[in-house]
Amino acid sequence: MKIDLSARVHYFVGRVRRFQPARVTALARQIAREQNKWMPAVAADMLFSAAFCDTAFIDYYEADFAALSRRERRTFMTSLIQHHIANRLNDADAAEVFADKRRFHRAFAGFTGREWLDLEETGPAELEQFAVRHPVLIAKEPISREGHGVFRYRADEVTDWAAFHAELVAKGQLLVEEAIVQHPYLAEYCPGTVNTTRLVSYFDGTDVHIVSRVQKFGRGAVSDQFSWGGFFTMLDRDGRAVGQGHSGKNNTFYPTHPDSGKSIVDFRVPRWDEAVALIDRAARIVPEVPYVGWDIAMTAEGPVLIEGNWIPGLYETRVTATGIRIGSRPEHEAVMTW
Ligand SMILES: Nc1ncnc2c1ncn2[C@@H]1O[C@H](COP(=O)(O)OP(=O)(O)O)[C@@H](O)[C@H]1O
Ligand SMILES: [Mg+2]
Repeated sequence: MKIDLSARVHYFVGRVRRFQPARVTALARQIAREQNKWMPAVAADMLFSAAFCDTAFIDYYEADFAALSRRERRTFMTSLIQHHIANRLNDADAAEVFADKRRFHRAFAGFTGREWLDLEETGPAELEQFAVRHPVLIAKEPISREGHGVFRYRADEVTDWAAFHAELVAKGQLLVEEAIVQHPYLAEYCPGTVNTTRLVSYFDGTDVHIVSRVQKFGRGAVSDQFSWGGFFTMLDRDGRAVGQGHSGKNNTFYPTHPDSGKSIVDFRVPRWDEAVALIDRAARIVPEVPYVGWDIAMTAEGPVLIEGNWIPGLYETRVTATGIRIGSRPEHEAVMTW
């Protein structure tokens, strides 16, 4: 694996510029407490890993590097490696289709399985008509990531549609979607949030390879992202959970879903083969962007795409949660070069 020198220098300079000693010591203290280690040694190792092993502090924390040997660590993806791959392999202009959720809907019309409106093109009357068909509305900032730009509204709480339309436009929530109704098995886990499956694919021009598989779980909020309290578990090649759930925030682990009590360890994505088949088709639509992290919602009728992320986002196992000491990098390296 080679990351070119300029990317490395750029990354390192950025890290030094943003370097906050208090943050490092706070994180090192947290790791030392959670893993029974000596704080200064953890801090020194974090600094060394950031400087020489392409590992941001937060990646060090989230993948439990303090509990892994150097050889084991090298099987994990880090944010830097992932950014490098995405920038190297994905065409920046073509990636615009993924960056703007409205463009994604247009390009992947056969895959998203839901109605939507662009409020820059439609007025209050059309929005009101839309809401007659869809009593729950999901409004999104079209260019947003990591759950900060997704909101939920109930149509029966809206009295003045002109004012509501103007409010959404003012907030930049220009994309309005019908709410997806998830598969009953997923609703048993958390009925209030659509719990999505994340598959990362690489299209080599002939075949589509799935290089990472994740199931996310929400806590009742509009989104299953971490910023809304969500957590995840890695999946095996049959769509079964690989150990208990976790998030990058702390060492709270989830053998069961904390709200429903359903077993995370025994979770299996329903209609898994259809999700894989969907990605096999979707990943060929924009071949200029061969490395994509897809958000998939499973419904009772089969899988639909929520979005594609041209920088997939980092999901790895945590040895303290699962006992598994190997990351997803070998799976990437088996089918891709970068
Ligand atoms: N149309 C929808 N209906 C129901 N839930 C949705 C819908 N769109 C998104 N969500 C929920 O919000 C989450 C984030 O949506 P997404 O479009 O992927 O935005 P982000 O850029 O924040 O990842 C999804 O993973 C899912 O849990
Ligand atoms: Mg998403």
